[in-house]
Amino acid sequence: MRHLDGKVAIITGASSGIGRAAAKIFAAEGARLVVAARREAELGMLVEEIGDAGGEAVAVAGDVREEALNRRLVEVAVERFGGLDVAFNNAGSTGESALVADLSLDGWNEMLAVNLTSAFLAAKYQVPAMIARGGGSIVFTSTFVGHTAGMPGMGAYAASKAGLTGLVQVLAAELGPKNIRVNALLPGGTDTALNPANFENPDMQLVAFIHGLHASFVTGTSMLADGGVSINRT
Ligand SMILES: NC(=O)c1ccc[n+]([C@@H]2O[C@H](COP(=O)([O-])OP(=O)(O)OC[C@H]3O[C@@H](n4cnc5c(N)ncnc54)[C@H](OP(=O)(O)O)[C@@H]3O)[C@@H](O)[C@H]2O)c1
Repeated sequence: MRHLDGKVAIITGASSGIGRAAAKIFAAEGARLVVAARREAELGMLVEEIGDAGGEAVAVAGDVREEALNRRLVEVAVERFGGLDVAFNNAGSTGESALVADLSLDGWNEMLAVNLTSAFLAAKYQVPAMIARGGGSIVFTSTFVGHTAGMPGMGAYAASKAGLTGLVQVLAAELGPKNIRVNALLPGGTDTALNPANFENPDMQLVAFIHGLHASFVTGTSMLADGGVSINRT
């Protein structure tokens, strides 16, 4: 049996990078998908590729900072596929790069909106749909920055992503009795538009595993998936 057979999943930040790779793996693992990001053409290509490979996905273009988009994603999952089991809330950006003393208030607020408030809005609408389904799994994409490494110029990014750890722990405690698991994935060194590097894009198998059959006791965690890059001091 595949990890996500019969499951319905939302994936944000699916137009490129980690979200795009995860969407293809989720579909190959049996999930039907609602994929989201702002770039509609890229989402359209992804939906086509998944369809060609025998999977099923529908695209919803929009901005994760907007409450209406977060509500709509859940509505589409329910209308199109009958419910929601899995959410990979992965959209994010690094924002303004500046030392904290030089960072603008707008830059700070922008990071909180894109990386943290979006997570609250996602959970706010996903949780009732998962409760109606009898359970589910939510994963947020955080980062090793601000977790195992302080990086000059990334104060707003680090703070916004570290906020996810707190949100995950509270959600996991609130939702354990409802059979909903909540975790954060902390990638690093992944070759994407956000972090261009000269190596192959690794498969995002870990996130499919966390959502899947064999991770039923995994909740409230913040899990590094960075090849050891953030703890390597040599
Ligand atoms: N690459 C790494 O090594 C690394 C390390 C740590 C954490 N991360 C995290 O991993 C996640 C994915 O990043 P990536 O590396 O795969 O980079 P990426 O290719 O730039 O992907 C970012 C995704 O987020 C979407 N996005 C950004 N802002 C959005 C908004 N306001 N509304 C809707 N969608 C939005 C982008 O789509 P549109 O532009 O089409 O909206 C894109 O699909 C991010 O949360 C990032 O912080 C990455």
